[in-house]
Amino acid sequence: MLDLKKKNALITGIANERSIAWGITQQLHKAGANIGVTYLPDEKGRFEKKVREVVEPLNPSLIVPCDVQSEEQIDATFAAVAEKWDKLDILIHCLAFADKEGLTGDFSDISRDVFLKSLNISTYSLTRMAKAAKPLMSDGGSIVTLTYIGGVRVIPNYNLMGIAKAGLEMSVRYLASELGSHKIRVNGISAGPIRTLASSAVGGILDMIHHVEEVAPLKRTVTQIEVGNTAAFLCSDLSSGITGQIIYVDGGYEVMGM
Ligand SMILES: NC(=O)c1ccc[n+]([C@@H]2O[C@H](COP(=O)([O-])OP(=O)(O)OC[C@H]3O[C@@H](n4cnc5c(N)ncnc54)[C@H](O)[C@@H]3O)[C@@H](O)[C@H]2O)c1
Repeated sequence: MLDLKKKNALITGIANERSIAWGITQQLHKAGANIGVTYLPDEKGRFEKKVREVVEPLNPSLIVPCDVQSEEQIDATFAAVAEKWDKLDILIHCLAFADKEGLTGDFSDISRDVFLKSLNISTYSLTRMAKAAKPLMSDGGSIVTLTYIGGVRVIPNYNLMGIAKAGLEMSVRYLASELGSHKIRVNGISAGPIRTLASSAVGGILDMIHHVEEVAPLKRTVTQIEVGNTAAFLCSDLSSGITGQIIYVDGGYEVMGM
């Protein structure tokens, strides 16, 4: 029943084979979607090289640079989408950033610059990309972002990213409210801890994983592919009545009090 054939999907946030965005990309592709991806450009072109290597087997329709801090690059990304496809159906927002200072030490020591940069990249980018996607989602669409329980509860060291995720989750609700009349649904997936490039910057990620393995009802954390399966569901007509929600894919950890 899960069918994404003839759906065009733009996926952000692949850095390497461990990226949650890569798990999502594989599952959307398996369900039949046409794939376009963005990568974060850097001076030496290392991200581009890696992302091309990872996604090449899926034969993507688009591979475009997009640093979400840049208005021009966001506009150019969606211009490339409009040129390649007659419409966009799916947008996956799967990226975040915080300087080390925001992910360790005392929360009250976080500087203004570090705070603003993190919220610019990790939070505002969803709203900015949704605005750019809206005119291309002429048949309606599905926007999915990635969040973490550290946006709802205090998790040691998650610090600044917790604020970014709280804002992101509220953005999901406001965007869902606005875009619903355009048949565009907006949801978030709150994933359990997974070892990736980004999560390795959070102090004590292995402790977080071990804690989930002990406490979560399923006695384990989750995989990128499991997150990808939920993303595929949220992008398909099977979830046509769901918008504005944060769905936990965390082995059940969220329901536990102790
Ligand atoms: N790994 C986890 O435990 C976990 C749990 C819950 C939620 N998440 C969320 O999942 C998402 C993906 O993270 P991941 O864990 O797969 O790590 P990852 O390092 O594989 O992905 C993070 C991505 O963000 C991109 N990025 C950073 N700054 C950017 C910018 N300025 N412009 C464009 N892209 C930029 C990076 O290029 C990278 O591809 C993030 O939102 C993260 O907070 C991760």
